[in-house]
Amino acid sequence: MNVSLIATIEKNALEAMGLIKDLETLARFETQFLGRKSELSSLLKELKNLSPEEKRTIGPKLQALREKLQTLHSEKQAEIENNTRDWEVERLDVTAPGIPRHIGHLHPITALEHEVLGIFEHLGFTVAEGPEAETEWYNFDALNFPKDHPARDMQDTFWIVGGGTKIKKGKVLERERLLMRTHTSPNQVRFMEKNKPPFRVIVPGRVFRNEATDASHEHTFHQFECLMLDETGKVSVATFKHVAETFFETFFGKKVTVRLRPSYFPFTEPSFEFDISCVLCDSAGCSTCKQTGWLEIGGAGMVHQNVLTAAGYPKGKYQGFAWGFGLTRLAMMKYKITDIRQFMGGDLRFIRQF
Ligand code: FA5
Repeated sequence: MNVSLIATIEKNALEAMGLIKDLETLARFETQFLGRKSELSSLLKELKNLSPEEKRTIGPKLQALREKLQTLHSEKQAEIENNTRDWEVERLDVTAPGIPRHIGHLHPITALEHEVLGIFEHLGFTVAEGPEAETEWYNFDALNFPKDHPARDMQDTFWIVGGGTKIKKGKVLERERLLMRTHTSPNQVRFMEKNKPPFRVIVPGRVFRNEATDASHEHTFHQFECLMLDETGKVSVATFKHVAETFFETFFGKKVTVRLRPSYFPFTEPSFEFDISCVLCDSAGCSTCKQTGWLEIGGAGMVHQNVLTAAGYPKGKYQGFAWGFGLTRLAMMKYKITDIRQFMGGDLRFIRQF
């Protein structure tokens, strides 16, 4: 093979490349110098017929020329494309305002829940959770509700058709009725079963009641269960009052008085409803506190011994308080919302205000 032929191809290719100004000419160049029928390709095909000596000297020269022409071709293509670009069309105005992205945020009730949990954690409480679909046992029986208590009626409780099944060692023992929990109190017993006093626990959660809704009543709302147990004599109503006052003073950032009123819950004895001094009017009387100076917050009491024994504790050994309060009502006070239904109404105009 004639080595000078390689030099001639290179010379011709470089000359041709020097004249190229557009992509059509470049495409012709590619066919002529790099295509399958080009002289260079023919020489490469002939390589196999050469002697080993010739292959060693000519082979690398041909390869090097091919790579050189390919590189020149790519560079020229980039150069032509760059020169013919319509910069006006592609112009990027870096000062133009961006497309606003809507970033979501926590629901006000969730944010409030986090805030409340933070305060209780500071007071040494642990946080626990329980199921929303609850058994009749935990929601009512274990909490000392009599079998004929009206709260079990269809009007108050959302029963789950079909219920649950209690199975032990593969045998169906009994069908247990399931319901949507009507309060967070079932978690008192659930937590007691797995833990031994002393403990302080707080259980937040969504609860459900089959009741007509109005400005202060929802069928789905949020509560908190607060439980503090120790050996008999160590936790009293005074402890509860102190914990409640500390919580509300931290939450509202001002002095708050807690008032207890005698009440009845099957799972506490004694039981009370408790109010806090109105934080909106400083007890002077306003529409939120209905001119009384007090805001109703929740129910509380000393845990009934029947509940402690239902959880498997020996009678009389432990004592403590349980306290349940409506988080949604607390949100209404904090944000001065007059209709509770707005929280779960799904209206984004309401939610985006928080
Ligand atoms: C209970 O649910 C008891 N489990 C509370 C309790 C716990 C008492 C531990 C003693 C010991 P009650 O039904 O009163 O109690 O509800 C507690 C709070 O939930 C009320 O004070 C109120 O703030 C809120 N609440 C009750 N019903 C509704 C409703 N339909 N919509 C919004 N909030 C409600």
